[in-house]
Amino acid sequence: MRHFLDINTTDAGELRGIIDMARQIKAARRGRFKGAPDDDLPLDGRMVALIFEKPSTRTRVSFDVGARQMGAQTMVLSGTDMQLGHGETIADTARVLSRYVDLIMIRTYEEATLLELAEYADVPVINGLTNRSHPCQIMADIMTFEEHRGPITGKKVVWTGDGNNVCASFLHAAAAFGFDLTFTGPPPLDPEPGFVAEARARGAHIEIERDPFKAVEGADLVVTDTWVSMHDPQSARERRHNQLRPYQVNEALMAAARPDALFMHCLPAHRDDEATSAVMDGPQSVIFDEAENRLHAQKAIMRWCLGV
Ligand code: CP
Ligand code: NVA
Repeated sequence: MRHFLDINTTDAGELRGIIDMARQIKAARRGRFKGAPDDDLPLDGRMVALIFEKPSTRTRVSFDVGARQMGAQTMVLSGTDMQLGHGETIADTARVLSRYVDLIMIRTYEEATLLELAEYADVPVINGLTNRSHPCQIMADIMTFEEHRGPITGKKVVWTGDGNNVCASFLHAAAAFGFDLTFTGPPPLDPEPGFVAEARARGAHIEIERDPFKAVEGADLVVTDTWVSMHDPQSARERRHNQLRPYQVNEALMAAARPDALFMHCLPAHRDDEATSAVMDGPQSVIFDEAENRLHAQKAIMRWCLGV
């Protein structure tokens, strides 16, 4: 039994194996209806709980569909409807759920909730996003980059905007997959210094460049995300918009990257804030491939967790 809690706490060789498996899973499903079962039904007879303390479209639907394609049954649980939201401890919740289900995916606020759930659960726990990281997203993103451009090792990835949870998982992945990462954004919204230091200590080349146009020089991939995340106070909205406007991904910024640079956004996007529609719908954008690959990557993650 293995938890999938973060990219930086999972062995790099295992991560590569998960990406390889995801590619095989995707290839094997070519031409099928979305609801058609996989041939081998690796999760036949299993019960999967999907817990959401925050909203979700992609994570909710892709985990649910993926588990069902593999033969599992699923239950989507809202954190607020559970006793978890009304005072029952996370440890007790973990021990109880482990008596009913074979796998738990949770999207939550505090990373401590995820870690405590994993500590006390007897079944694998998957991180479906916390305030600090979003590892499933980055697995899908690496798969997507490599489908279009081949190995990501040695490539230059530029994150522009808020140094948030998705950015953190890119930092974690830089060392594990051997790509260079440049962050460009305003200093108050820098990624956690500890994540930058850890990535560098593990041998990753990480740069912080305040000028977005300089940052994207030579970029193979330009990535951004919402300027205000689900855990950020709405009161920060106007200030963040003013701070982040210079870091918008528009056609001028993409023109300063390599001509074959890809554009990614985990979605949901606020069109014409962090990225213009011209870029999101343009020829360099792979945003809907990223969304599709959540399905295949997470199927591989679930199989890896359960060893099937
Ligand atoms: N990218 C992502 O995790 O989307 P959802 O919030 O819709 O799950
Ligand atoms: N940074 C965003 C990602 C959403 C998938 C958030 O946490 O709201």
